[in-house]
Amino acid sequence: MPVFKKFAVIGSPIDHSLSPKIHSIFARKLGIEITYEAIEVEPMHFDSSVNRLFDEGYAGLNVTLPLKELAFNFADVLTEDSNLSGSVNTLWKEDGIIHGDSTDGRGLIRDLQEKKINLKNKEIVILGAGGSAKAIIPSLLREDPKRISIGNRTFSKAEELLESFFSSKNKMNLFEMSENLNFKPDIIVNSTSAGIKNENIELPRDLLSKDIYVYDLSYSQEDTPFLELVKSRGIENYHDGIGMLIHQAALSFKTWNNQVPDTSISKVELL
Ligand code: ATR
Repeated sequence: MPVFKKFAVIGSPIDHSLSPKIHSIFARKLGIEITYEAIEVEPMHFDSSVNRLFDEGYAGLNVTLPLKELAFNFADVLTEDSNLSGSVNTLWKEDGIIHGDSTDGRGLIRDLQEKKINLKNKEIVILGAGGSAKAIIPSLLREDPKRISIGNRTFSKAEELLESFFSSKNKMNLFEMSENLNFKPDIIVNSTSAGIKNENIELPRDLLSKDIYVYDLSYSQEDTPFLELVKSRGIENYHDGIGMLIHQAALSFKTWNNQVPDTSISKVELL
């Protein structure tokens, strides 16, 4: 009997993860057989669950909320992106050593490149200062933007985030969500979890001008609440995070299977 490579995504909750579908499509298009499951893992059982899964022969694990920081602490060896972002979304074991990578930031950049959005010398604004913001900042910085400005509901968290990128401080800036921005961004990235919780975001009144590009890291079948707002302001150039999701998955897939998958998957196929 052929032995299929086994993979899984772990998180809590995990029911709605699209990763099993994405990886199955990648494998099918390449004509290789894999299995890919979604497995619920609670934070308190992280270490024992991951050890058990590797013992059971899983070749790789994707890690999603709220476990990415635990995975970062768990891995023996980390990639540069993972080290910089304090986060791991991809685990694999080689010669008894657990490796960890964070493919979210590179996934975002690949999606932006595909959409012909160039970041060099651009004034970028990030809304939110949580794990998602931290995961994408190293990759954004590598594209040599003019500046990255962070706005967050809780200002102190934005300050903490800035501190963690101390060596790039001259390229970074903070702003208050309740005040005017007083500069004009070229690109806005929404990394907040407000939309998932159906909450509104307080924004600087002068943030959304017509000719900017907006990327929302979240996604849904319809436009996300943030993109609805963006549209209502007459902004025409925007995307949700489905492309980033597919590209971050492709990067994990390449690491595990040593084959580059076809990422041309439509949103309709997934949602
Ligand atoms: P993730 O890992 O998805 O980034 P997180 O670390 O919990 O999740 O961060 C969520 C981010 O969304 C935070 O920046 C949070 O702001 P606070 O630091 O003030 O909590 C932001 N966020 C969540 N709900 C929000 C809302 N209704 N308005 C504005 N920001 C919100």
